Amino acid sequence: MNLDTVPRDRLPALLRAMPKAELHIHIEGSLEPELIFALAERNGVALPYPGVEALRAAYAFTDLQSFLDIYYAGASVLLKAQDFEDMAMAYFHRAKADNVVHAELFFDPQTHTARGVPFETVISGLARACRRAQDELGVSSALILCFLRHLSEEEAFATLEEALPYLGQFIGVGLDSSERGHPPEKFARVFARCRELGLHLVAHAGEEGPPAYVWSALDVLKVERIDHGVRSVEDPALMQRLAQERVPLTVCPLSNVKLCVFETMREHNLVELLDAGLVATVNSDDPAYFGGYMNQNFVEAFEALPQLTARHAHQLAANSFEASFADEAQKQRWREALDKVFA
Ligand code: HPA
Ligand code: ZN
Repeated sequence: MNLDTVPRDRLPALLRAMPKAELHIHIEGSLEPELIFALAERNGVALPYPGVEALRAAYAFTDLQSFLDIYYAGASVLLKAQDFEDMAMAYFHRAKADNVVHAELFFDPQTHTARGVPFETVISGLARACRRAQDELGVSSALILCFLRHLSEEEAFATLEEALPYLGQFIGVGLDSSERGHPPEKFARVFARCRELGLHLVAHAGEEGPPAYVWSALDVLKVERIDHGVRSVEDPALMQRLAQERVPLTVCPLSNVKLCVFETMREHNLVELLDAGLVATVNSDDPAYFGGYMNQNFVEAFEALPQLTARHAHQLAANSFEASFADEAQKQRWREALDKVFA
């Protein structure tokens, strides 16, 4: 098909049908209110909300921190390996329905170990779900351990120490939680150690924080991808660097609107990022909290941004494969499957 002349009313079906990879999903952010209450009951955990509707009504965020407070409260129902497995399987079913063929899942061990849940419990439940996703759904996946940046580098080192026996079960590390006031360089030494261990490196930067945080994620932490990174457009030299080095940005449109990074989807800079030649991708971030999974992010962004065409859709899916940590042969197979949808 001619990618420049596909009618706009055909875009939603194409966006849904195309195979894609998800590279920015906090698995704890996939906990739907119904599952939060089911796990609370199963585990005898009391929640400060009377029910699903009241909890959902609290999902009116003004910034990143206002979300994180509720997100950490929601995660308090996760106690057993089975809980982590159930949560991740629920996500994988949603991903499969959206034609996600590969997902790289963030998890926040410190959110759980701080409540006395052993690291082993967290990773064994998640790893089991990843195996089942491949066997039962044909969805490939990998785990990325995120350090909470509002905590200290010493605490990140302690978490890394706990994770060492499970090095074969996660492929990399990331950096998430409250960005403002917690620049990447705070974690320089722990990321250097993770690099020596052969782990992949990513970091949230330029979501609420300034372009300087993207620079230091690249130059100090030496990350391979930037999570969010939308504020990079404020710095032309940074945009040039990201384009030249093909550093992927894992952009999360619904998240950005929900957390007031952009006032509405019409203000989102996804078109600017793509047209500047950046390897931008579309992702769901915390889909249970932000109004939708992968295809919802694609459809709403394309609906609000009339400059986006079928060519951009193809580019975004191709970018998601390029930006993934899968091997080249696998990427090639995904690209061929993608091209068939657009033939
Ligand atoms: N930003 C930072 N930390 C997070 C996010 C996010 O969007 N989601 C979960 N933890
Ligand atoms: Zn995120």
